[in-house]
Amino acid sequence: MKMTVEIPNHKYHIHIQKGILANISKYVDLDRKVLIVTDDMIPEEYVNTLQKQCPDSYLATIHAGEASKCFIYLQFLWNALMDNNFGRKDLLIALGGGVVGDICGFAAATYMRGIDYINIPTTTLSQLDSSIGGKTAINLGDTKNVVGAFHQPRAVFIDTDVLTTLDDRNFYNGLAEAVKAGMIGDAALFELFEQISGDRAEIQDKYIEKIITKALAVKKTVVEQDEKETGVRQILNFGHTVGHAIESAGELEGLLHGEAVAVGMVQVTEDAAIKERLLNVLAKLQLPTSHTYPAAKLAEIISHDKKANGSRITLVQVKEIGKAELVKMPLANIEKYL
Ligand SMILES: NC(=O)c1ccc[n+]([C@@H]2O[C@H](COP(=O)([O-])OP(=O)(O)OC[C@H]3O[C@@H](n4cnc5c(N)ncnc54)[C@H](O)[C@@H]3O)[C@@H](O)[C@H]2O)c1
Repeated sequence: MKMTVEIPNHKYHIHIQKGILANISKYVDLDRKVLIVTDDMIPEEYVNTLQKQCPDSYLATIHAGEASKCFIYLQFLWNALMDNNFGRKDLLIALGGGVVGDICGFAAATYMRGIDYINIPTTTLSQLDSSIGGKTAINLGDTKNVVGAFHQPRAVFIDTDVLTTLDDRNFYNGLAEAVKAGMIGDAALFELFEQISGDRAEIQDKYIEKIITKALAVKKTVVEQDEKETGVRQILNFGHTVGHAIESAGELEGLLHGEAVAVGMVQVTEDAAIKERLLNVLAKLQLPTSHTYPAAKLAEIISHDKKANGSRITLVQVKEIGKAELVKMPLANIEKYL
């Protein structure tokens, strides 16, 4: 299965195929310097499978976890590139989840003012969301993604076989972004979650490719209309304004990104019937639906959010499943959603 993202001056393919990790060299020129960026919890066999296809490869391994999306590791990647004489025609490969993808993409965006990278996402979250769209970033202290760049990958390769080694918490965490995609842009995707049992083995065997394809299709359509998030792309932030605040309040050690987005979606959904359907789906997917942080603390964090513009904020709301609206409001009004 192949999808194509078409952005002005940049077109790239997303390949979704079991076992494709062993065949990357068929699609991308790996006969150049290649820096593989991964983390220390990614099974070694995936790294080896990739390295075998690269005649001149270098490995940069960061510690697993959100705290690694930081300046220290960014500098580590820049040094790995410079010390090994990487030039503009060479390549970075992100082999891992959203953490690896975001920091590898940002290193690629900034080294020599931008070199190529490809994404090989290995978590549900990165396979169905973060590996496309070109948002790259690091955190500054506890503030998420505040330093970053738009830099699109040259290609994305999704091998669902690698999900078998992912732990349950991370498996379900990623599905929160697919529920979001259904809520904002594909009612049939949301209804699929209502119909299935929530059993991991069943989702993985029967539905995961469909879920990934549908979620990516929603994101792709939105990103193609508004790459730099000046307008419609903001709908992808459904659940994220409150979700990011919850993530930051946990000092990056509390809820995972998808889990925080799950809670954030619940908090901002006003329609009682939609909220009930959402709660049922999230519970089935073992995702949290509430938080215990003081509203004042979340409000303070949101006032520094990139989505806040002075005294106003744009909140994404869903009043009909499959359709999102951007609602501008005074920042003070956010308290009622916390
Ligand atoms: N750029 C974007 O558009 C975008 C969108 C959404 C989220 N994000 C970012 O993505 C990040 C979260 O990504 P994530 O949920 O993938 O988490 P992650 O990258 O931290 O990965 C989760 C854990 O799973 C392990 N892992 C990864 N693949 C594995 C596999 N196949 N088998 C066994 N273990 C594996 C990792 O080592 C890590 O410990 C956050 O930083 C978030 O801000 C970015």
